[in-house]
Amino acid sequence: MDISLSRDTAYQLVLEKIGENNLLKHILSVEAGMRKIAEHFDEDVEYYGLTGLLHDLDYNETKNDEARHTYVTKEWLKEYNLPDEMLYAIEAHPGHVPCRTRLDWALYCVDPTTGFLVAAALMHPEKKLSSLDAKFILKRFKEKRFAAGATRENMAACENLGLGLEEFLLLVRDGMMKISEKLGI
Ligand SMILES: [Fe+2]
Repeated sequence: MDISLSRDTAYQLVLEKIGENNLLKHILSVEAGMRKIAEHFDEDVEYYGLTGLLHDLDYNETKNDEARHTYVTKEWLKEYNLPDEMLYAIEAHPGHVPCRTRLDWALYCVDPTTGFLVAAALMHPEKKLSSLDAKFILKRFKEKRFAAGATRENMAACENLGLGLEEFLLLVRDGMMKISEKLGI
């Protein structure tokens, strides 16, 4: 897909709006997870990655006003003429509109999964994403009080991607492992 917004420019935009903090780590994790899902399905890796990188751009402005979340982002991104499909996926990730496409479902499911995997890694004795195996991850998944903010139903919606839970969780883990140094886990 031909997109006028480069990854570098998008990243600068993220730095400007978000800063360097845990939210940036979350955003980079979602980008990495999205890239991995795209790779798995032989989709456009840059396009999926960019959708992840931009998905929470307005978070600092809208964290106390959930109804405006993603709509401020869409305003900011207007000048870049991004594909409607990408903007729709961003709008769908907090449930403002229903997920329809593979891109929508990917973002919807990867978003809560990244935080869940960070929490799982921190709980692991080795504190590394690379130490998380399927058994450990699935066990944490079943513990309702573990990383309770990571809504299990949203993660399990990966079935809409045609992926089983285990396969999906390991794909996101693998994607995030590529930036493990940046994440510090
Ligand atoms: Fe997010």
